[in-house]
Amino acid sequence: MKVLQVSAEIFPLLKTGGLADIAGALPGALNAAGCTVRVLLPGFAPIMDDLQSASVLTELTAPWGERVLLRQGVLGSLGISAYVIDAPHLYVRAGTPYEDAQRQPHHDNHLRFALLGWVAAQLACGLDPDWQPAVVHSHDWHAALTSAYLAFGPARGRRVASVYTVHNLAYQGVFAPVHFFDLGLPTSAFSVNGLEFHGQLSFMKAGLYYADHITTVSPTYAQEIQTPEQGCGLDGLLRVRAYDLSGILNAVDEAVWNPATDAAISHRFDAKKTTGKARCKAALQQELGLALQPDAPLFGVVSRLTEQKGLHLVLAVLDGLIARGGQLVVLGNGDAKLEAAFKACALANPQAVSVRIGYDEAYAHRIFAATDVTLVPSRFEPCGLTQMYGLKYGSLPLVHRVGGLADTVVDCALEHLADGTANGFVFVDFTPQALDRAVRRALALYARKEEWRSVRQHAMQQELGWDQAAAQYVALYRHLIA
Ligand code: ADP
Ligand code: GLC
Repeated sequence: MKVLQVSAEIFPLLKTGGLADIAGALPGALNAAGCTVRVLLPGFAPIMDDLQSASVLTELTAPWGERVLLRQGVLGSLGISAYVIDAPHLYVRAGTPYEDAQRQPHHDNHLRFALLGWVAAQLACGLDPDWQPAVVHSHDWHAALTSAYLAFGPARGRRVASVYTVHNLAYQGVFAPVHFFDLGLPTSAFSVNGLEFHGQLSFMKAGLYYADHITTVSPTYAQEIQTPEQGCGLDGLLRVRAYDLSGILNAVDEAVWNPATDAAISHRFDAKKTTGKARCKAALQQELGLALQPDAPLFGVVSRLTEQKGLHLVLAVLDGLIARGGQLVVLGNGDAKLEAAFKACALANPQAVSVRIGYDEAYAHRIFAATDVTLVPSRFEPCGLTQMYGLKYGSLPLVHRVGGLADTVVDCALEHLADGTANGFVFVDFTPQALDRAVRRALALYARKEEWRSVRQHAMQQELGWDQAAAQYVALYRHLIA
């Protein structure tokens, strides 16, 4: 089965969050499950640089007159076949893939990402005479117009199934209505039964409305987004489409996230031999100038610093955590106020708190390896990957019971300790008091060395690899093309 995966990011070439991790791992996992996957990506500089044996497949004119080249080759770092849209005037710029250096959205994002969906639809309709996919699978709003273009596109070749995965409903790709006329879609598409959203143009809604099937990245989030609280204004449409909506839990790329083989960490370890983990902790405490106490429970945060992640709760409980002998290491960037607040905490408690503002892939690995607890108190979380990386590295996740966090973490309540399912700490109310109680629960378990070790061993041995998720995607694709 030929599958075209469409996304804006892909690890290790371009990553702003978990989307890239998934886009980087899914093709390999699907190939291993018997599919033949190619990816379609915008020609951001790191992607163009990685493209090997590339040839120009064709030159295209987008609906708004833009001339672009479509290249085909192999991504050297991943060894997967790729189509890349070569349009430097659109994709090679300062800033992130979505924002300029002043953190403002690029003025022409609607065109930059409409192009991604438009080219995906062309490929789905047989643009490459040697390779027509049976399924086109697009990710997040950046690739969401794929299914809209397919719905109105040329009925060349056979009918291709479309799958749209929501990684985060909060980022919707909403633009002023005037931009609709650039897109080359029929006027009928700008309707409540289409991609119109409160008078605006919504890429997210296009994906949700036109895709044959919608998936999201955990079963719990698939339910949550059908409620007004978490539906971001789209819960009505999602309820209408409930039969075509499912949650497939993300997984961990064990070639990248494995403490037994990880080249980024100073000492390697596994579930049975954890001496390396203690050494990683000592090395990090030393490097960061934290008190060199092997028995101080070390908490870690690796996160975008945004409203979604609930980190103001961590600030609210931090004094208590320190007073009880805990330490905290933070790596993140984003919201300027959160950055400043965490920096101030580090300044006030240099022996107990270390904060690095920035983005650093290798340092993230070292934090999971060194810490005892990974904090993920998100307000909402479609899946969340860091709690799973915490599990793999024996840094027990402490999470708010939402989305994928609820699907992956089992609290150390006595009954779960008794039946051996506990792997972390879960709080339900989104309040500092509830987080504080969970922190105290973590500290209490940490003081019971034997029990801690046994929970940690269970956490590290959990099956989190891609086999199961890949099998679920393959079953879905088969169902759709049958
Ligand atoms: P989201 O995609 O919402 O940001 P996820 O938990 O799904 O949340 O994925 C976040 C990914 O980004 C993980 O791979 C995490 O390790 C990584 N990450 C987040 N912030 C940083 C940072 N400042 N430096 C390095 N890696 C980071
Ligand atoms: C999004 C979500 C996160 C999820 C990731 C990968 O960024 O915020 O919860 O893990 O996508 O699917």
